[in-house]
Amino acid sequence: MTHKDLFILGIESSCDDTGAAVLKNNSILSNVVANQQVHEEFGGVVPELASRAHQKNVIPVVDTALKRAGVTLDQIDAIAYTRGPGLMGSLVVGTAFAKSVAMAKNIPLLAVNHMQGHVLAHFIEAENQEAPEFPFLCLTVSGGHTQIVKVTGPLDMEVLGQTLDDAAGEAFDKTAKLLGLPYPGGPLIDKHAKNGNPLAFEFTKPSIKGLDFSFSGLKTNVLQFLQKEVRKDPDFIDKNIDDLCASLQRTIIDILLEKLSYAAEWEQISNIAIAGGVSANSGLRKALEDKAVELGWKVHIPLFQFCTDNAAMIAITGKYMLESGMTAGQEVAAIPRWKLGKQNNQ
Ligand code: KG4
Ligand code: ZN
Repeated sequence: MTHKDLFILGIESSCDDTGAAVLKNNSILSNVVANQQVHEEFGGVVPELASRAHQKNVIPVVDTALKRAGVTLDQIDAIAYTRGPGLMGSLVVGTAFAKSVAMAKNIPLLAVNHMQGHVLAHFIEAENQEAPEFPFLCLTVSGGHTQIVKVTGPLDMEVLGQTLDDAAGEAFDKTAKLLGLPYPGGPLIDKHAKNGNPLAFEFTKPSIKGLDFSFSGLKTNVLQFLQKEVRKDPDFIDKNIDDLCASLQRTIIDILLEKLSYAAEWEQISNIAIAGGVSANSGLRKALEDKAVELGWKVHIPLFQFCTDNAAMIAITGKYMLESGMTAGQEVAAIPRWKLGKQNNQ
């Protein structure tokens, strides 16, 4: 007897990326993301502009995803979308779209937690990618999030620590802005850091107890340091841009890995994963691989297209939810602040 293939359409609209993906069983047939250039000149995401852009993008993005997958909407067995956390105006666009498709096609609706999606991106089948074994720890680091999550099953996750203020990506972007780099500055810091000395400058690290993070002090420290140096030499930043970026990047990575090491030791877990846009950082990847050798960790880094916000991770999460019967009704509403926890579908 042949087993019928399962097709899930994933939709992501939590922040400033409109995504649609088609999942066939555990692999991705298409993964389309429309980035919104509109925020660049404002140096950050403008929520009102983001929701307008989602409205424009959602149908063309879904259309492209279906075409690239060679699948029609009639073949889709279920629709998974991001219910939260995220920007309300952005979430409602994906929510309304997904509900309409579920109703029109009479297929199950799967209301996914975006943070769970980042973690489960590791379970998308891809060449040379091995899924982590349970239990594992996932450091989810992006422009909106910084969390250490203990994962004991696909739908069983517990947040061990998270940021009390800025996310790791914001720490990159905000300090990059102080250096005069355009938004988003994270990838540019990464680029300059490759030519700089990571020990050239010393910045303060927060002393936060437990497994939580804080990055706002670093931003203030960098600002004060630059003001002082620029007063002495107006060209200070230009002359030292590579060393400044390398030192900043090293500081952020040190903060992240220190807590991750504590968590691994405390929980006695050596399967370690990272997720989110900041996991694209070459310094972080290298530092993680070094730690793996030093501490005997087994490290998992997802493919880049599944690190940054995307709908493929939403679709795979939807698949696990469908298998567990966790479908949503038409009354489901977006949750802008949705904590990741054991009762994840509440
Ligand atoms: O996951 P993502 O695409 O969207 C959010 O959910 O925020 O992450 C975007 C963040 C931005 O802050 C960006 O600067 C950062 O990821 N980022 C990087 C790198 N690539 C992206 N930060 C440091 N180094 C990179 N190579
Ligand atoms: Zn995200």
